[in-house]
Amino acid sequence: MNKVIETILNHRSIRKFEDKPLSKEQIEAIVASAQAASTSSFIQAYSIIGVTDKEKKKKLAELAGQQPYVEKNGHFFVFCADLYRHTLIGELEGKDIEPSIESTEKFMVALIDAALAAQNAAIAAESMGLGICYIGGIRNHLDEVVNLLKTPQRVIPLFGLAVGYPENLSAQKPRLPFKHLYHENTYEENTQTLIDELKEYNEIIKKYYLDRTGGKRSDTWTEQMGKMLEKQSRMYMKDFVEGQKLKLR
Ligand SMILES: Cc1cc2nc3c(=O)[nH]c(=O)nc-3n(C[C@H](O)[C@H](O)[C@H](O)COP(=O)(O)O)c2cc1C
Repeated sequence: MNKVIETILNHRSIRKFEDKPLSKEQIEAIVASAQAASTSSFIQAYSIIGVTDKEKKKKLAELAGQQPYVEKNGHFFVFCADLYRHTLIGELEGKDIEPSIESTEKFMVALIDAALAAQNAAIAAESMGLGICYIGGIRNHLDEVVNLLKTPQRVIPLFGLAVGYPENLSAQKPRLPFKHLYHENTYEENTQTLIDELKEYNEIIKKYYLDRTGGKRSDTWTEQMGKMLEKQSRMYMKDFVEGQKLKLR
């Protein structure tokens, strides 16, 4: 164990922050940490938008499904997949890069890059004693988010990251046990083993909710996932991404 691992293992999402903005130094350290993440072929296919304007934050909170911590935090970052910059590189270098930029592969590269950068940012923030919460809710209405943040085509806002001084520490959510998640050499495909493991994990999660809510909530993980996954969500996404000139060939 060391300090980095302790910070990582201490993670829990924070949804209530003190009314205290991050300092310029904190913001710069978080962004520098994000940028230090590995990046596929050095492509750096992402951008980070810090949202400080009160009205914009309020609007984002609303668009994200009335999530108050999008408005009330120490700083709000939006992580975007960004292949716009690379469109300009095509012009600068006189290369036909459009077919490559419009590929599903490059889109995946941009998503992976942005996610790695964001998680570095999250850990940097947590290492300073700050709390974080990712906000995928901004993808509820991406057309409006794009207008609000004035992102050009080929820039897709993916998620927000609310950062701030935690007002209180929530409980940590138990993850899937090591042996359920970690495979060695080949994927454990035995359906019965996987089902038995899900049942085992269900008991862990049920106990977690019972303890956390004083007996009021007792749902299992598979119940929660079943409910979530039976509904389709944000099904406009493929058309939206293609409309942003990322054809995903
Ligand atoms: C990409 C992403 C998007 C998320 N979006 C939201 C969100 O919109 N609102 C929210 O309250 N939590 C959001 N979360 C936080 C998850 O709900 C949370 O990480 C998960 O329940 C596990 O809990 P923990 O982070 O406290 O361990 C998001 C997490 C990720 C990784």
